Amino acid sequence: VTRSVFDPVAQRYDASRPDYPAGLYDAIDRLAGPLRGATVVEVGAGTGKATRALLDRGARVLPVDVGAGMLAQLRAGSPTAPAVQADGTALPVGTGAVDLVAAAQAFHWLPLDRSLPEAIRVLRPGGALALWWNISEADHEPWMRRQSDRFREPPSGYPGQDWSGGSGGFEEPLRATGQVGRVEQVDVRWEWRLPIERYLGYVGSKSAVVRLGAEADAFLVEQRRELAEAFPDGTVVEPFRCSLTVAWPR
Ligand SMILES: C[S@@+](CC[C@H](N)C(=O)[O-])C[C@H]1O[C@@H](n2cnc3c(N)ncnc32)[C@H](O)[C@@H]1O
Repeated sequence: VTRSVFDPVAQRYDASRPDYPAGLYDAIDRLAGPLRGATVVEVGAGTGKATRALLDRGARVLPVDVGAGMLAQLRAGSPTAPAVQADGTALPVGTGAVDLVAAAQAFHWLPLDRSLPEAIRVLRPGGALALWWNISEADHEPWMRRQSDRFREPPSGYPGQDWSGGSGGFEEPLRATGQVGRVEQVDVRWEWRLPIERYLGYVGSKSAVVRLGAEADAFLVEQRRELAEAFPDGTVVEPFRCSLTVAWPR
């Protein structure tokens, strides 16, 4: 594979998806060891949303992604990061070379039976995996229910893992491989606040909405009206849970 389904929307992806909360990186620091000075390979780095935060925290990061369009966007935002177009199942990194393998909103895209042994191969003894996902907790909100009803994803939407953010985090799929020992699961709750117009850009970047084609505009008009009712001051507040799984090889 040498491209990403996200390549055609890389710029919109970068501009409109939420970042990860500071508390997430604090938790990684606390559990996996200090990011400052750590050597990190980041799998499925995409446009570099997490890469930028890891670099800001003083890590030496090698971002890896299959998508040329996503990486072009990453390089524009982080010109000094040595980004490599490669598959997470064949990392361009020596055995035992890194302190941390990180993946933000990405590890479920990879076939775990090959991506996990590969991640373990590149870790130094004592090194850890840190995998995380932003998961919306707005499902019970009326303005979100309309979106979820309309876009309920088919259960096996992902090529790798059939996992969509269960409350136990990624611990269970990892444990099932028999290749990890200690696992720590942390939820960092946070609120995303942004103007309605920017939020509509985010809704418009969801693959389910893109797939509506010509109908997307009508849907977004409907959403704008609902959001204006729910958030009269013009700022959308969406609650999120950032689900972090830190694991050490057996
Ligand atoms: C949802 S995006 C997340 C991007 C970024 N980490 C972020 O937090 O915004 C998932 C990324 O995983 C990448 N990806 C999917 N399969 C991959 C594989 N086998 N090896 C490396 N990257 C892969 C995609 O190209 C995409 O950029």
